Amino acid sequence: MGAASMASMQGKRILLGLTGGVAAYKSAELTRLFIKAGADVRVVMTEAATRFIGPVTLQALSGQAVYTDLWDPRIADNMAHIELSRDRDLMLVAPATADFLAKIANGLADDLLSTLCIARRCLLLVAPAMNVEMWSSPATQRNVALLRADGVTVLGPAAGDQACGETGMGRMLEPEQIFAELMSQFAPRLLRGKRVLVTAGPTFEPIDPVRGITNISSGKMGYAVAQAAVEAGAEVTLVSGGTSLVTPAGVTRIDVQSARDMRDAVMTRVKKCDVFIAVAAVADYHVVGAKSQKIKRGDGNLTLELAPNPDILAEVAKLPRAPFCVGFAAETEKLHEYAQAKRKKKKIPLLAANLAQHAFGQDTNALTLFDDKGEHVLPRAPKIVLARQLLAHVAAMLRR
Ligand code: PMT
Repeated sequence: MGAASMASMQGKRILLGLTGGVAAYKSAELTRLFIKAGADVRVVMTEAATRFIGPVTLQALSGQAVYTDLWDPRIADNMAHIELSRDRDLMLVAPATADFLAKIANGLADDLLSTLCIARRCLLLVAPAMNVEMWSSPATQRNVALLRADGVTVLGPAAGDQACGETGMGRMLEPEQIFAELMSQFAPRLLRGKRVLVTAGPTFEPIDPVRGITNISSGKMGYAVAQAAVEAGAEVTLVSGGTSLVTPAGVTRIDVQSARDMRDAVMTRVKKCDVFIAVAAVADYHVVGAKSQKIKRGDGNLTLELAPNPDILAEVAKLPRAPFCVGFAAETEKLHEYAQAKRKKKKIPLLAANLAQHAFGQDTNALTLFDDKGEHVLPRAPKIVLARQLLAHVAAMLRR
């Protein structure tokens, strides 16, 4: 995977807006990260933001004048509310207070930053930061829904300890996370026009109406792959076993239970796909003669008969006009040996191997990719970062 195929912050022109929240101090670090990565950062602050952090700090970190006033005499034609955003690739408001979200959701423009938001032509991202009750209040949730519907990207917030001493949703994302989100906005659309089908999560094989056999896959890796595919410009369908995850924006999700349900959902859609990525932890067996009534406890042993499930990935790979197939393999030992064997057995061009104990349920992972050219190590990182690297690799293989 060449460095050129990955996102770059070099030369990107960002307008960073700060509103009045304690998290404003984190935006100093965020500015530093942008500058270090080669971005051009113009900072605009609301009057309230200047109560939390001095404009001089942001001026020093960004290396540029900081703007706070709609009537700034440094702008010769007095059009600060237009000019300051026209040459920008993207606007980011971090932290964004409940009041500021309310304002821009309703098109109010009574200071420089809110006026820039409504007069902009570029993308707008906001990173909310507020008390847990303010965040969960119906008014804020309404405003956030309005902003999303208007195409504004809402980053976070996260859950955790808050400056006010309470705990819950409302913390601004950490500077590194916001930085990563912006990187993804600048990612080249390597899979533009491609249709990608992803499986994710565990399957559930019923024993009776209230019991079944499943596994500990959380779906995080598969959902990250679906998100990264959307970011790369693909049209994405996600066939998902039971998870508690939120569907990534722009992804069409189909919920399934058993491996056989997953097979049916995949087979009806796969013919229209260019790429199939099997991240799901599919049960190898199902229970023969699952009961329609709850099994009663008896005195003796209870024996379950298990029959093999269809191998979805192998079936897709065997299709006459098979899409480009990517398999996953979670092993507890002999990762290389078993993963290589799986790639050969399923006759797929690319397989991503991970160590089960470091992959299932975790937010981070490490992958080794096996293809016809050998192996490629993707060191431990958040699953979304690995998913982006995996898709850049897929895109490079498709181009070959
Ligand atoms: O969901 P998370 O908690 O984030 O964890 C992610 C993960 C560990 C589940 C994921 O990274 C992963 O490794 N998934 C594959 C799990 C596995 O070991 O699968 P397998 O060895 O049983 O199957 C190999 C490949 O064939 C997989 O791509 C699988 O989706 C596919 N398969 C397997 C069996 C089957 N009946 N049908 C299939 O399509």
